[in-house]
Amino acid sequence: MYIEEHVPLAPHTTFGIGGPARYFARVGTTDELKEALAFADEKNMPVCVLGGGSNVLIDDRGFRGLVLQVAIEGIDYEIEGSQTTVTVGAGESWDGFVSEVIDRDLWGVENLSGIPGTVGGAVVGNIGAYGQVQSQTFAGVDVFNTHSKTVERLHVTECRFGYRESIFTLEAGKYIVIHAVYALSHQAQPDLSYTDLQKMFAEQPNPPLRTIREAVLHIREGKFPDLLKEGSAGSFFKNPIVSKDEARKLLERYPAMPQFSMPETDGVKIPLGWLIDHVLHLKGYSEGGARLFEKQALVIAARRGTSASAVRALANSVREKIFNECGISIEHEVKIIS
Ligand code: EPU
Repeated sequence: MYIEEHVPLAPHTTFGIGGPARYFARVGTTDELKEALAFADEKNMPVCVLGGGSNVLIDDRGFRGLVLQVAIEGIDYEIEGSQTTVTVGAGESWDGFVSEVIDRDLWGVENLSGIPGTVGGAVVGNIGAYGQVQSQTFAGVDVFNTHSKTVERLHVTECRFGYRESIFTLEAGKYIVIHAVYALSHQAQPDLSYTDLQKMFAEQPNPPLRTIREAVLHIREGKFPDLLKEGSAGSFFKNPIVSKDEARKLLERYPAMPQFSMPETDGVKIPLGWLIDHVLHLKGYSEGGARLFEKQALVIAARRGTSASAVRALANSVREKIFNECGISIEHEVKIIS
């Protein structure tokens, strides 16, 4: 394995922003991963794990430690009755994995089509979209425990999955994902409950997997920036979760606002994009090359050459305005690396 020095990180991210890594290693096996971590230990340097770079904003000054890009590949299938267990390397492209399992007629991740990034990133951030969340079909994960320096298998119940969180964000730095295991169904079980999908399939209640994938890709095309033209990391903020009582008060103030219940918690999910759009009227608002995307205000798009500090300044003004206007504190979904 080769450890490079002073590697620009911007090309490794979908934002296309950020300074260099002091050291950079691309690891394709668990042994290479151990070797790179030993190198960082020896130099007493912080380590930052990067997957597809699709949910990060890297500081303009870069990262002064070792950036580890996990490139562990491979997808293995094991048929077990009415389902197939799929073991997939953390470095595989998430959407490549989704497309492959759809070709094999396996159900459970089709609504998560078109999400950029790697499988490792999908597990860490517990990605969700259009009514599905990766933790629904997730069975377990092989991880490298950086404390005990051993490989362990964690069962889904140990991963503490929540809304865009997991044990990997709650205990950041302790584990590095090596392989994820999904249990996917052979039986058709379309989830078309999400409004946009409901509308598209009103006349076709049992669409095939490929058709659902195409519909999701089509919806996404209309909501996210074209990464070939400009940078983005998708939703920049998490949707705030508030108590039922707070949700009721917000609804009195903003009767047209949609709300989403969260079956796994007592809270109610507030669509921050809606508030930015219909209360602050900030859709399309820009500061220094960064702007709130015209088609989805929760997304920040960045023109080529925009700095990380410009993106953060825009994010801070949104945070301030939402707090002043709606009394809600909001959090980043995007991980800031500095
Ligand atoms: N809305 C507006 N204006 C906007 C944006 C949204 O009125 O500018 C309204 C929509 O019409 C809708 C509601 O707000 O009624 C929610 O919007 P949307 O369905 O687009 O989803 P979201 O809550 O903004 C979440 C995820 C996305 C995921 C979509 C679709 C988070 C932080 N974001 O967005 O995930 O793709 O649902 O399921 O949970 C991501 O995490 O990076 C991400 C893109």
